[in-house]
Amino acid sequence: MSEAAVSAVRAVDLAVGDLEAARTFFTQVWNLQVVAEEGGIVYLRAGNPDFAALTLRASGGDQSALVRVVLQARDRAAVDTVYERVCAEGCDTDGAPRKLATPGGGYGFGCKDPEGRNFAVIGDTAVHADTLKSPDVPAKLSHVNLNCRDNDASFGFMTRAFGFKLSDQTRQFRFIRCNSDHHSLVLGFNDNANLNHIAFEIAGIDALMRGIGRMRDHGHAVEWGPGRHGPGNNVFAYFCGPGELPLEYTGEMEQVAPDFAPAKRPEDWKWPPGRLDHWGLTPGPSARVKAAQARFQFTVDGHRLDG
Ligand SMILES: [Fe+2]
Repeated sequence: MSEAAVSAVRAVDLAVGDLEAARTFFTQVWNLQVVAEEGGIVYLRAGNPDFAALTLRASGGDQSALVRVVLQARDRAAVDTVYERVCAEGCDTDGAPRKLATPGGGYGFGCKDPEGRNFAVIGDTAVHADTLKSPDVPAKLSHVNLNCRDNDASFGFMTRAFGFKLSDQTRQFRFIRCNSDHHSLVLGFNDNANLNHIAFEIAGIDALMRGIGRMRDHGHAVEWGPGRHGPGNNVFAYFCGPGELPLEYTGEMEQVAPDFAPAKRPEDWKWPPGRLDHWGLTPGPSARVKAAQARFQFTVDGHRLDG
């Protein structure tokens, strides 16, 4: 696929144990805004014009889970192309692309990837007429990091079906892109097929520091950071959100050209002893966030958009 049919990792849909607590957190602390509520689902936008970057619904129990990752397709034709490719890969879908009646609308379908994680591929969605200008409002969903049992199978699927390209690879992760951001998905070499973390883009170091303070004010200490990553060169701060949801504020993501290719081999991405980032200010990730980055599962039926 010469041009990526998928143009962004636009949103994540979450099922949470305590819907009101999660709504309060994501509006008053994480700084998203509610734009719609329908059928028990709360839709929240970030600063960019996309209709929603996050949805919340009650899980029906104590546990929280990721329902799906929502990919933005360039247009309806791109949705059809991706659907054919997902079918050719032999992965489950929830049926052919169709017009969606949910807030934000669009034309799309749901599917599972080769390791059973849920995705939606949606194009022609509604957008807001404005942007939210405050630097303390996350601009957008930046990236989703997924643990993989079979990284090669997931990577092959993401490149063939969705059109992602490899930006960098370390011994722990593959960083893949679908636009000028160095990465929008990260695929881990691990022992599970679930969520590692969800990252929202925030406007630079000052906003990142303010975000750390706002999270501390509300009882969410930074669990790793602040720092600057190697691949992507993005600044970061990691937290455990509601239900131990692993979250990252990130900014200053490296912008790359369409023909960008990895310049380093996995064995070249090595830090000096005691270091895990460029700055060296922060100890490594806490035991708490490491645990959070291994336990967050996808729902069983999250590939069914109409369910
Ligand atoms: Fe990240």
